[in-house]
Amino acid sequence: MDFEEIKNLSSEYLFRNYGRMDIAFTHGKGAYLYDTDGKEYLDLVAGIAVNSIGYAHAEWVEAMREQISKLTHVSNIYHIREQAELGERLASVTPSGLKRSLFVNSGAEANEGAMKLAVRCTGRSKILSAFNGFHGRTSASLGATGQTKYQETFEPLISGAYRYYNFGDLESVKKLIDRDTAALLIEPIQGEGGVVTAGGDFFRGVRDLCTDSGVMMVADEVQTGVGRTGKWFGMDCYGVVPDIMTMAKGLGGGVPIGAVVTTDEFSKVMTPGTHGTTFGGNPLVCRSARAVLDIIEKEDLVGNADKVGSEWIKELKALGSDRIRDVRGSGFIIGVEFESNDTATAIQKAMIGNGMLVNICHGNVMRLIPPLILSSEQKDAFMSVFRDFI
Ligand SMILES: Cc1ncc(COP(=O)(O)O)c(C=O)c1O
Repeated sequence: MDFEEIKNLSSEYLFRNYGRMDIAFTHGKGAYLYDTDGKEYLDLVAGIAVNSIGYAHAEWVEAMREQISKLTHVSNIYHIREQAELGERLASVTPSGLKRSLFVNSGAEANEGAMKLAVRCTGRSKILSAFNGFHGRTSASLGATGQTKYQETFEPLISGAYRYYNFGDLESVKKLIDRDTAALLIEPIQGEGGVVTAGGDFFRGVRDLCTDSGVMMVADEVQTGVGRTGKWFGMDCYGVVPDIMTMAKGLGGGVPIGAVVTTDEFSKVMTPGTHGTTFGGNPLVCRSARAVLDIIEKEDLVGNADKVGSEWIKELKALGSDRIRDVRGSGFIIGVEFESNDTATAIQKAMIGNGMLVNICHGNVMRLIPPLILSSEQKDAFMSVFRDFI
């Protein structure tokens, strides 16, 4: 099927809720994607921070082939070997104490689960989250997403539970915390909000405030988790251990899986019937996530993201162009803020024309979130094209 046929079918039969670019891909290999005309692209988007091990990794393909031939789905009313094995594997990389997992299908769903857990653990009802943050688009996660552009027209679906603090401003957190605060949601780096960072002191201060006031600190690691920041989890960059961690995107390497991870003690409140989902943690997605974690560890992709990402940030900062207002991030989540939205759009177009896929978020920020396998040479290839346009 050629591109025009795909586009026509989409226009006729699909919701119009995505602003789609005029490209469709047929397959991928490593860090490259191929479109319907056979054109090759270096992928610095990775399905928005999802395809952590790139495309068609041989070990992952073999694991999937074997799993599909045996068992794809069974209900959570039975014990599931692959889910139990993934739980154990995940606990080997999460911060100590965070050992119990609940597997779901997406990032938003993981955050819903985390909020339910916090409300049930504390018996309180308020949820704090940051302005400009992003936690998903289902009702509760939308409530926690402190950006009016996502909430507009859906206010009737959002409860009065949410209060918003300024990211990076400990005083504004202090002002909001009270005896009815159940949880504070926080992204280690605000991804959708434009790759916005805050210093380690802020995160450590939030940790202390939460501990002192009995508020559960929920680290939303949906985008930053599983190696992206050059550490296993974004909060590891600051030496902070949250009470609850949510993750999704990079965990499954392309299949829909999310997780809520917490301590043995906190997990006890979620008794049978309090939460659940039909597809959550089925054998296929759990086998996929275990293969992803194994590959990340075996190939030291966390170290790769740290090393190549640090070099990349340095080189981007050294460009010193008038059109670049700021460069920020950690590992393989890098934001290049341009002086205008028009510049960002023009540069994205030029990069795509030259076979480099980049994402623009928050209007004027180029977000670089490649597969964790991206090599130093591939980063150099990006830089040599980017230099010509900046
Ligand atoms: C930090 C963060 N939390 C939650 C979500 C929502 O995840 P999903 O789209 O899988 O529901 C996202 C998605 O971009 C995210 O970046």
